[in-house]
Amino acid sequence: MTAQGSSPTASAQRPSPKASWLEARRLARIFCLDDFEPAARRHLPRPIFGYVAGAAETNASYRDNRAVFDEYGFRQRVLRDVSGRESSLDLLGGRYSAPFGIAPMGISSLTGYRGDLAQARAAERAGIPMILSGSSLIRLEEVVEAAPSTWFQAYLPADSSQIAALVDRVAQAGVETLVVTVDSAVVPNRENNLRNGFRTPLRPDLRLLWDGVTHPAWSLGTFLRTMLHHGMPHFENNTAERGAAILSRHATRDFSGREHLDWEEWRCIRRQWQGNLVIKGLLHPEDVATARQHGADGVILSNHGGRQLDGAVSPMRALPEALDVAGEMAVMIDSGFRRGTDVIKALALGARCAFIGRPFNYAAAIGGEAGVDHAIELLMSEIRADMGMLGINRLAELDPAMLVDLALSCRQVPKRAFAYHGKSGPRC
Ligand SMILES: Cc1cc2nc3c(=O)[nH]c(=O)nc-3n(C[C@H](O)[C@H](O)[C@H](O)COP(=O)(O)O)c2cc1C
Repeated sequence: MTAQGSSPTASAQRPSPKASWLEARRLARIFCLDDFEPAARRHLPRPIFGYVAGAAETNASYRDNRAVFDEYGFRQRVLRDVSGRESSLDLLGGRYSAPFGIAPMGISSLTGYRGDLAQARAAERAGIPMILSGSSLIRLEEVVEAAPSTWFQAYLPADSSQIAALVDRVAQAGVETLVVTVDSAVVPNRENNLRNGFRTPLRPDLRLLWDGVTHPAWSLGTFLRTMLHHGMPHFENNTAERGAAILSRHATRDFSGREHLDWEEWRCIRRQWQGNLVIKGLLHPEDVATARQHGADGVILSNHGGRQLDGAVSPMRALPEALDVAGEMAVMIDSGFRRGTDVIKALALGARCAFIGRPFNYAAAIGGEAGVDHAIELLMSEIRADMGMLGINRLAELDPAMLVDLALSCRQVPKRAFAYHGKSGPRC
């Protein structure tokens, strides 16, 4: 199913690509999103796997992102005819087939061959949103041509004068939804990257060479294949101009200099950008209220998968207060979502859609486009099964009263009237 609001594309109509023998063998052992991680760990060179898997400092936020889901239990319903289940939703003017999407992840085409395209095409075909990262290695125009409903995520360039040019380029490419990530005012401390030997641009040295030699499937199937067919990957979308090469002894990629940015930059973007404008990386209700006041169409509550401020709360903890002030904005969420039940818990609390990062990155790395298809299908089936076990046919029927806050000794999460959605009248 294609997201409504975008014209159907060759890629959307294209059947799922056939996995290679090796990819199919790997995917046959993947039964849930968490299974992708150990497979990717085996496949990827250590610095590159570490870059994707890692978080900031002590991993406190990373752990909380998972732990929070165990604090909610379900109150299932039974005998409610759930034969007509369907998981579609309307979001920002588009219609999607499931309430989850692919979060933006920089340099995805280093982990999987043409990784951003694999994610975007699979998402387009499945009818779920996919957000292309501003730190991606394939030109956004190429990705949007292949998958027109792709959203684009921008980091604000440090030099404010470059912001307008970038926004203009994104509009010219035909993007309908622009996501601006704002939780990156300063560079976080990701010492894990240093331990694993990761930096951007990658510096060729003996250790990197050894990592390549000991991971031949990645070296041949992703890195050398990319070099052969597309040349040295560059940061293509951080600004309106092409950025640094991914592998370089001398080039530096400048993440600094964003400290001075404030809501004035956001206001300028809002004036310029005609499409949907989403702000990503909020946790504080006052920021959510400010985003609303300054014309955001949606927010993505996020702690960046635990990769920015270590100790930042799980967005699930920020969700109720954010909803109190969000008004008509679509409140979306990411960080730590791995299961259909995680997505359902967020939706029951009031989120519209959950985005998922790392597992889709691993999926493209070990299985290409077929891997991303597989990941999407796994999560969709979980969600549809969970809906059945909760006794609902539509996502709109999800309600906080279906949840129990386990920390509060089994107290129902705010009480609301419970509607019965069964068929009326006796059948026998
Ligand atoms: C490898 C990697 C790269 C990322 N790059 C970006 C990025 O370029 N822009 C952005 O807004 N968020 C980026 N993120 C954060 C994700 O968009 C998302 O917030 C996070 O991955 C969600 O957590 P999860 O991986 O636990 O699902 C990145 C995350 C990872 C794992």
